[in-house]
Amino acid sequence: MSAATTSPATGPASAQQPPDQRLADQRIVIFDTTLRDGEQSPGASMNLEEKLRLAKTLEELGVDVIEAGFPIASDGDFEAVREIGKVVRRSTIAGLARAHRKDIDRCAQALEFAEKKRIHTFISTSPLHMKFKLQMEPAQVLEAVSSSVAYARSLVDDVEWSAEDGSRTEHDFLCRCVEAAIAAGATTINIPDTVGYGVPEEYGALFTMLRSRVPNIDRAILSVHCHNDLGLAVANSLAGVRCGARQIECTINGLGERAGNAALEEIVMALRTRHDKLPFSTGIQSEAIMKASRLVSAITGFVVQPNKAIVGANAFAHESGIHQDGMLKHAGTYEIMTPESVGLVRSAADRGGLVMGKHSGRAAFRARLSELGYALDDAAIDETFKRFKLLADKKKEIFDEDLIALVDDQIGHAEDVVKLVSLEVLAGTKGPQRADLVLLIDGVECSNSATGNGPVDAIFNGIKALYPHDARLGLYQVHAVTAGTDAQAEVTVRLEDVDRGVVGRGADSDTLVASCRAYIHALNKLLVKRRRTALNAASIAG
Ligand code: KIV
Ligand code: ZN
Repeated sequence: MSAATTSPATGPASAQQPPDQRLADQRIVIFDTTLRDGEQSPGASMNLEEKLRLAKTLEELGVDVIEAGFPIASDGDFEAVREIGKVVRRSTIAGLARAHRKDIDRCAQALEFAEKKRIHTFISTSPLHMKFKLQMEPAQVLEAVSSSVAYARSLVDDVEWSAEDGSRTEHDFLCRCVEAAIAAGATTINIPDTVGYGVPEEYGALFTMLRSRVPNIDRAILSVHCHNDLGLAVANSLAGVRCGARQIECTINGLGERAGNAALEEIVMALRTRHDKLPFSTGIQSEAIMKASRLVSAITGFVVQPNKAIVGANAFAHESGIHQDGMLKHAGTYEIMTPESVGLVRSAADRGGLVMGKHSGRAAFRARLSELGYALDDAAIDETFKRFKLLADKKKEIFDEDLIALVDDQIGHAEDVVKLVSLEVLAGTKGPQRADLVLLIDGVECSNSATGNGPVDAIFNGIKALYPHDARLGLYQVHAVTAGTDAQAEVTVRLEDVDRGVVGRGADSDTLVASCRAYIHALNKLLVKRRRTALNAASIAG
């Protein structure tokens, strides 16, 4: 039987139809792995509250499958998959598992409360990986494919199998593994380009080859999973889709190990904008893309490069006179998609509307936040509005970016042990620079005066003296939220301990205050993380 005639990838359409038509208008399953493959990238770790926030945002975005973590990898991953499974209802929740029973059991346990659940099990199939990484013979790997998938399938109905390093796997062996996985009950077959080595024609041809050679291929959905080491992840993913894949695995902002994974926003907008050449659809609400992108950047501290496709700050900016002139005459001259289609709301000033400033009231403030995609409860609005008023006293015009920075700075402080009361800094050429700090630690006010090699160093030394800890500073980054010397500074601090690091953020029109807030935010997250780890250890011991 030729897979090309009956694969679910092409649907039950008749073999008489030309291939292009049979593949036309197919719905693509969007599988987001920001919380798993994305979070695996060094420095991108997220805590439970952040993972939950992101999972809800991905659900709103219309992602079909959210890979929420690798439950056997850590208690944190297990808890995240479990908690996400409790609150996300529309998207399928997937957990990753190696081809071991204990991995699969842990994954199934983590998925207990998910309404729609998927076990995603994988094993390497390339000669290099089998010999050096797994130290297994191909026959053993083949047996592991069948037994792991069959076992996962005995626990859940939706099982995905991945051939790690699939793009560098010998075709005959890949066909046998795929056939075995489907025979054992896999409903999705994923062929990752794990090391980002593939080029579009070659990667696409892999899917054509599988569809023509694997006898039971029509019983599974084929999936692409591409890494971006050569900058080809999106091109390779789209090539796979043109050759019959109907699931794309991707991440927001292209987050992921090394050079990252294929970027969700680029794939979705390519499919939407070039529907003439890529006649496929997704369930993604593209207007929610910017919100998801900002959230991932804010949580991880990974700044989106300004010229990044779709979500970069310059992606819709037209600076040159010729371009601006063209745009004024007809937006289509230089714009292939509208900023609104990815959720970039034109600023109030651009629309001739109300500019936010010190006279703006609570209702206007709430309305603008809601236009920007932020629905805050009354308590959060009260808190953020207070900060907005303080900022408006210092800054004449408050831009959307300022509001977003305020909201991001406001969320996730419920469990704070350390709070900033006041900060005064002596800076300048004379030195040593000095920071006078007052902190509230567990409800008790503590103060000190510390010096350092520069004002930021003095502040961080002051915090360390008031709340001694052994974490190292892994990153200190300052970003101006808008233009102008009165712009708010958004500071990111990463603190690293023996385990993975935590990222803290702080925003303020005073860069030193923002730095202090960011450090304290990271410290609080570290304390929460340590407390959770201790509680988990105690519950296992008890
Ligand atoms: O890149 C890869 O091969 C993976 C698999 C575990 C799916 O992430
Ligand atoms: Zn991957």
